[in-house]
Amino acid sequence: MKTIAFAGSNSSVSINHQLVTYITSLVDNSEVIKLTDYDIPMYGIDSEENQGIPKAIKTLDTKLSEAQNIIISVAEHNGNITAFLKSILDWLSRNNRNFLENKKVILLSTSPGGGGGASALAIAEKTIPYFGGKVVTTLSIGSFYDNFKEGKIINQEMKNSMDKAVQTIK
Ligand SMILES: Cc1cc2nc3c(=O)[nH]c(=O)nc-3n(C[C@H](O)[C@H](O)[C@H](O)COP(=O)(O)O)c2cc1C
Repeated sequence: MKTIAFAGSNSSVSINHQLVTYITSLVDNSEVIKLTDYDIPMYGIDSEENQGIPKAIKTLDTKLSEAQNIIISVAEHNGNITAFLKSILDWLSRNNRNFLENKKVILLSTSPGGGGGASALAIAEKTIPYFGGKVVTTLSIGSFYDNFKEGKIINQEMKNSMDKAVQTIK
């Protein structure tokens, strides 16, 4: 069983990337990727009709197809997932509507505030089934900078929830 994890953020200092890096340390045969490593323009119907599906989307789809489990940590921008992630999900869906078919998906979110990106998480939870993915766990980590230090969750209750989350893809 292979697990691929990524953050729904294009920030070079993404806290959601830090969170997926941590959770994958608890999962055998897992790999963290960065969506920013893929050269993908903003989705647009004109771009699709004129230039076609970007090569990087096909490469990303092939990469995701290696995994049976996917972990995504979504960043929250104005109560929503980022435009960056939404655009990539839209492209992936145009390339292969069911790109998450038969995959278990753990959805995480974190933010510096107490809300922990929960609104974005709820939107992601509704969106993932459009692509055939089965959301097995959602977990929001609030107040990131208080609860995460030196690459690890230091809040014991949150750590326990992470451990439980990992069990859902075993
Ligand atoms: C445009 C913008 C909108 C934001 N909106 C929210 C928000 O609605 N709720 C929230 O908790 N944090 C919000 N934030 C703060 C983000 O949670 C914070 O920047 C976080 O670090 C984003 O995750 P990332 O580091 O993984 O990119 C916003 C940040 C930006 C730049």
